[in-house]
Amino acid sequence: MTPPRAPLLEVRGLTRRFGQRTVFEQVSLELGRGEIVSLVGPSGCGKSTLLRAIACLDKHAGGSVLLEKQPQRGPSDRIGMIFQEPRLLPWLSVADNIAFAAGPGQGQGHDPRVDALLAEVGLPGIRDALPKQLSGGMAQRVALARGLFAEPDLLLLDEPFSAVDAITRSRLQHLLLSLTHARGTAVLLVTHDLDEALSLSDRILLLSSPGDDRPSRIARALHVTSPRPRNLRDPALDALRDALLDGIASGPG
Ligand SMILES: Nc1ncnc2c1ncn2[C@@H]1O[C@H](COP(=O)(O)OP(=O)(O)OP(=O)(O)O)[C@@H](O)[C@H]1O
Ligand SMILES: [Mg+2]
Repeated sequence: MTPPRAPLLEVRGLTRRFGQRTVFEQVSLELGRGEIVSLVGPSGCGKSTLLRAIACLDKHAGGSVLLEKQPQRGPSDRIGMIFQEPRLLPWLSVADNIAFAAGPGQGQGHDPRVDALLAEVGLPGIRDALPKQLSGGMAQRVALARGLFAEPDLLLLDEPFSAVDAITRSRLQHLLLSLTHARGTAVLLVTHDLDEALSLSDRILLLSSPGDDRPSRIARALHVTSPRPRNLRDPALDALRDALLDGIASGPG
């Protein structure tokens, strides 16, 4: 019998304090290879802070982050990050923005991986454009390509589609699913949009405080088992949405 594989990501006892305030305490979670997990919770509960700690971008967070049992001590190519704003460097072309993480002079010029990624995100032929020439949806596609350039095992996304219109958002959600599914990339997605979480995720984690300014913790972990593509009117998803709304409403707000 083959032994069960270690989870891709293990987060153990993460705690973050700012002065007297403990934002979250003893947060532990796991992600398997290729798993898509959403993190939801009331504004200010610590989702972005938790994501930065998981990316090892926050030296002041206590606890540990392991990738396939290896403790992580700083940012790594194995973890990609995408934010609400595309954060493209305005003086670099689209191609150089995508290859930027590889370091100066690396992967730039006419790297065929950049053109392949641009085709995959539906933007062939814009490699020489500057960020100011792109719409918000196009810029976020470029950010997605940049996040995938180093072929990370895990992509962390902080409200990546909240600044675009509903149709663009839906297209970007499908694109995220197809790109990460094709590569077996695991995803941890912070979102305020419960329908986004319900349509994309294998699991949804609710981060919230039990009240009175107490530290947040993972209050609920819900499995979403409905087959994809999902119908958001599915009664099983209604029940999960209600459970999440209850949990968010009982948080600090
Ligand atoms: N550098 C910092 N210094 C002091 N407090 C901070 C700092 N960064 C975050 N906080 C506090 O930590 C708490 C959590 O912030 P965070 O941005 O992680 O919340 P969030 O869940 O992502 O909120 P939102 O849903 O609005 O994006 C907030 O009370 C915030 O004020
Ligand atoms: Mg946030």
